[in-house]
Amino acid sequence: MNKLRIIALSVFAVTLYACGGGEASTQDAPKEASEPVVETEVVSDSIELVIEGNDQMQFSKEELKVTEGQVVTLTLKHTGKMPKESMGHNWVLLTTGTDLAVFGTSAVSAPDNNYIPKDMEDKVIANTKVIGGGEEVSITFEAPKAGYYKYLCSFPGHWGVMQGSFVVSPK
Ligand code: CO
Repeated sequence: MNKLRIIALSVFAVTLYACGGGEASTQDAPKEASEPVVETEVVSDSIELVIEGNDQMQFSKEELKVTEGQVVTLTLKHTGKMPKESMGHNWVLLTTGTDLAVFGTSAVSAPDNNYIPKDMEDKVIANTKVIGGGEEVSITFEAPKAGYYKYLCSFPGHWGVMQGSFVVSPK
């Protein structure tokens, strides 16, 4: 470690000397001499996400990433033309451990609650209402604790293909 530091300092000194000489040579220090770089990432307090749904029963993204505690504004856009009665889409973020199949199947019985089954509302971290072609809707919520979550469209028959991962990184 000490030896590495000395080499790194020497390279730094040479670089300084080279710059002082007027020639702005930007030689990269040899890899073995460089200290490990600690990346400091500045995480914003908020993030805006956009996801689209179409008439082919597809979400435009299979994964969304946020950081713990961020204020998330998510916009769901329906880029298709079909009405919400036949090709409705919503975006539902579920708690970890919730079975998508169980949720998706139960949702069929909740058309008047945006296809959120009443007895499973405690499994929902955030959700939009159901929209049809040409519409869009935004929701704002706080990113849950770090972990891997799943989102889906709970319109009848859609959850099997309209689903994705919601990845929350630690702060
Ligand atoms: Co859908």
